[in-house]
Amino acid sequence: MRLVVLASLLAALAAAVEGKPLTRTVSHVVHEERLVARREWTKVGRLHRLQALPVRIGLSQSNLHRADEFINAVSHPKSAGYGKHWTPEQIIKTFAPKQETVDAVKIWLESEGIHPSRVSLSKGRHWLEFKATVNEVEQLLKTEYHVYRHNRQGHSHVACDKYHVPEHLVEHIDLITPTVHFDRRVGHERENKKIGVTEGQTQELKKRSLSKRQRPEHGILGSGANDGFSPKQGAVIENALASLANCDQMLTIDCIRALYAVPPGSLAKSNNTLGIVEYTPQAFLQGDLDLFFDQFQPKLVGKPPILQAIDNGVVQTTNRSFSFNGESALDLEFAMGLIFPQQATLFQVGDLVQGASFGNLLDALDGSFCSFEGGDSKDPNVDGQYSDKVRCGTAQATNVISTSYGSNEGDLGARYEQRQCAEYMKLALQGVTMVFSSGDNGVAGNGAACVDPATGAFNSGGSGLFTPSFPGTCPWVTSVGATQILNGSSVRSPESACEEVILSGGGFSNVFAAPTYQRAAVGTYFADSRPPYGADRFNNSGTVRAYPDVSANGARYLTAVDGNFTLSFGTSASAPVFASLINMINEKRLAAGKGPVGFVNPVLYENPQVLNDITNGKNPGCGTDGFSAVKGWDPVTGLGTPNYPAMEQLFLSLP
Ligand SMILES: *[C@@H]1O[C@H](CO)[C@@H](O)[C@H](O)[C@H]1NC(C)=O
Ligand SMILES: *[C@@H]1O[C@H](CO)[C@@H](O)[C@H](O)[C@H]1NC(C)=O
Ligand SMILES: *[C@@H]1O[C@H](CO)[C@@H](O)[C@H](O)[C@H]1NC(C)=O
Ligand SMILES: *[C@@H]1O[C@H](CO)[C@@H](O)[C@H](O)[C@H]1NC(C)=O
Ligand SMILES: *[C@@H]1O[C@H](CO)[C@@H](O)[C@H](O)[C@H]1NC(C)=O
Repeated sequence: MRLVVLASLLAALAAAVEGKPLTRTVSHVVHEERLVARREWTKVGRLHRLQALPVRIGLSQSNLHRADEFINAVSHPKSAGYGKHWTPEQIIKTFAPKQETVDAVKIWLESEGIHPSRVSLSKGRHWLEFKATVNEVEQLLKTEYHVYRHNRQGHSHVACDKYHVPEHLVEHIDLITPTVHFDRRVGHERENKKIGVTEGQTQELKKRSLSKRQRPEHGILGSGANDGFSPKQGAVIENALASLANCDQMLTIDCIRALYAVPPGSLAKSNNTLGIVEYTPQAFLQGDLDLFFDQFQPKLVGKPPILQAIDNGVVQTTNRSFSFNGESALDLEFAMGLIFPQQATLFQVGDLVQGASFGNLLDALDGSFCSFEGGDSKDPNVDGQYSDKVRCGTAQATNVISTSYGSNEGDLGARYEQRQCAEYMKLALQGVTMVFSSGDNGVAGNGAACVDPATGAFNSGGSGLFTPSFPGTCPWVTSVGATQILNGSSVRSPESACEEVILSGGGFSNVFAAPTYQRAAVGTYFADSRPPYGADRFNNSGTVRAYPDVSANGARYLTAVDGNFTLSFGTSASAPVFASLINMINEKRLAAGKGPVGFVNPVLYENPQVLNDITNGKNPGCGTDGFSAVKGWDPVTGLGTPNYPAMEQLFLSLP
């Protein structure tokens, strides 16, 4: 009797072994681990085991090591292929992960109980996406998920401390989300307790369906607009006696035209609107635009920007204050005024509940991949889950896109930043100019934070390692620092690095190697003006990406916000101004039958004479004087401010 039972049991076991792939011992390794201690977040508890997580596996892509070569081929002024930007098809064919990569990861998922029918491949073919319970993901990645609460703003975030993948998959996987990335929605000051349910909150959980809860966020962590990149408010101006004679006191559109010799716009191709990115709940008020334009560009009164809502983006009007409206007002008033009659396209990203991050915008711009090989996946599970969110073609990239938000490089893992930077590289290859502000805290980061070398944690900024900002350190974007007209100076005298209210962000990356286009300029800087700091302050090897690339005025912008004129300060202003000038140059190129300029850095580093070199001022931080603006490129003002006529002529001379 007992023998019989044993025999049938053995037979059953044998059958089970035959029918299934051999179970072998897979050794797992830590794939990503969060190192920098989170200052502003408190661990609330374990995430409920049955909560659904939208998992995304970033697959290793092909040919990324050739980025520098590809970029130079289309963007270097001496390249025969200058301006021959890539199609989405070329992008996919060149960078799509190898089939063996897709297969290896899918086999792993299936062996762990994630059936292939649940898994889909993104349009760009570089993400595998599926939904799974926390329980499933914890087993898959050998980790534990916790809910964190933001100490100041009260919203929640889901993360683990580290996660594992099988050793043989390390080369195939860039990163997995949501995991260690402490990405936070970019907009500031939100009340969001709807993400992340702890084990103790099961009642609340029962009220919800498992289907629509969390959505991946790939973006920026640790920096709300309020933490450093948003403009700083100066005095409220009762009598705006703006004139060219007092641009040192109040900066107007006319002051910018005078500083950089910018003519009024004359062209308005529907094809060439200027992209301005804002993250909800940051929003403009039409009344503010009208107040501003009534004074400075009457033909724009009553004219909103063209709205491209991304991820249910809303221009909210409920919460009003400088911190809710200042950034949008500043960006839109000056950009729209400068490029008129050309229009601006406002990419308003994120809803009021979850907000959004840089990754959400990139996902939406990925819509360009939809036309490739059939478009939408036909999988109702996947399309259902994401249909009201990021969909094919939700956003068409404009030729120039300006973003005045950023994060500390140390907030995000290197893998995460490299992944996102590769997306900026793909946009650059397709002819899109991505412009970012360089930060407002000099060599320190958002909130003036520096890094304690002993612990790797952020400190309050009196000492320690400099804090570079991302995405400015991505080699494939244009990073814009801030200058100012010194008190008592006129628009005709040279500007200085901005040291009033804000300090121009600048420095050296800890993640990205120097792109070839800036090696000579940075080499000259180290040879002629070597800064007095060692490797205990920043990576001084001269082999890493240095920023900013250029600069533009960032002080005393006379801005209409919440019904009053007020002064605004920040690289937040510098980025859209620089982007506006590139937009105007594109107009001229399109009129001449040429394409948009796309990525401008290689042309500018090769032709520094089209910029006004800034040689005065510095960007202190971390208990130091920071770097100094010197002759040639420097990590305070980059190559300098635009000399518009020279820049226009140069870009028009290129094919
Ligand atoms: C838009 O611009 C592209 C070049 O960037 C051009 O080929 C196309 O014809 C333009 N479309 C319109 C409607 O102007
Ligand atoms: C925004 O406005 C809503 C509605 O008045 C309010 O409930 C919420 O607390 C406000 N949020 C902030 C951060 O002020
Ligand atoms: C600018 O200079 C004037 C005259 O010297 C002085 O009254 C004013 O306080 C100065 N403003 C700033 C911001 O330094
Ligand atoms: C500086 O960057 C280089 C190149 O990435 C790297 O080899 C070196 O280790 C870095 N130095 C420090 C102190 O991190
Ligand atoms: C702003 O303008 C409103 C009227 O639109 C006025 O009541 C208020 O006092 C002004 N605020 C400041 C700080 O001047």
